[in-house]
Amino acid sequence: MLEASRQWRVAGRSIGLVPTMGALHAGHMRLVEMARAENDVVVVSIFVNPIQFGPNEDLGRYPRDLKRDDELLAKAGVDAIFVPEVRAMYPPESSTRVHVGGVSEPLEGSARPGHFEGVATVVTKLFAAVEPDRAYFGQKDAQQVAVVRRLALDLDLGVEIRVVPTVREADGLALSSRNVYLGTAEREAATILSKALREGAAAYAAGERDPDRLRVLLLARLGSEPLVEVEYAEVVDPATFRKPGSLAVMAVRIGKTRLIDNHDLALPFLG
Ligand code: PAJ
Repeated sequence: MLEASRQWRVAGRSIGLVPTMGALHAGHMRLVEMARAENDVVVVSIFVNPIQFGPNEDLGRYPRDLKRDDELLAKAGVDAIFVPEVRAMYPPESSTRVHVGGVSEPLEGSARPGHFEGVATVVTKLFAAVEPDRAYFGQKDAQQVAVVRRLALDLDLGVEIRVVPTVREADGLALSSRNVYLGTAEREAATILSKALREGAAAYAAGERDPDRLRVLLLARLGSEPLVEVEYAEVVDPATFRKPGSLAVMAVRIGKTRLIDNHDLALPFLG
């Protein structure tokens, strides 16, 4: 991959990278569109990164459909698809991990120990393999955005981090590769996340600024759905993920499926 990148670079062409784990949906494709609009060359990586999954998570059953992904990306005018092998990314003798302190610790970080270390390590390796000018990440994974921004700054990676707004279904559910796990009743119940965010934004617009009262409001709304088990709901600063702030973040379980969502309550909820 690096050889091709270097040739593009020598030819004076800017490179946009969209890191993904495949099973592409319209959310991923929005990242690709933005990369296409802003760069001469677009590279999409597809790699189900084993080290960002916990031992009891869904690595084994994570949806994979490389043929369909290839077709979608070809239609979208992507220049290269980078699909590394696990053994090439993590040969048995490899032992380095990238740990981003601070922002990777609360919320997703404590719910999924080792997750952000896995993300930071693979993102560093993808940046090294592609040497992009810009890399595209979804607001859907807000804490991942904050971790990657910190990583790029702290290690002087020289990659501009671009963030793309969350793409949602008509009923507000944020698109996710994991939505395919949801049964019919669960899928219906999953709309509670966007409903709670919409209510939070309305309360914020009406003048509510107290993060604890906003949190209680989010928890009450999420808790009103019997199929939903709330993991956390907080209103935090979008860069540090500590209080105070206006970014509402939440994680729930519906049956076996874990879903996350977020919204900056200072902005109207359009989803
Ligand atoms: P994955 O879950 O495949 O997501 C790839 C990118 O698509 C991420 O930046 C994610 O935030 C973005 N995305 C997912 N759903 C979205 C939606 N509904 N709207 C907008 N963007 C959305 O996130 C990962 O993979 C991995 O952690 C990765 C960064 C590839 C590192 O392994």
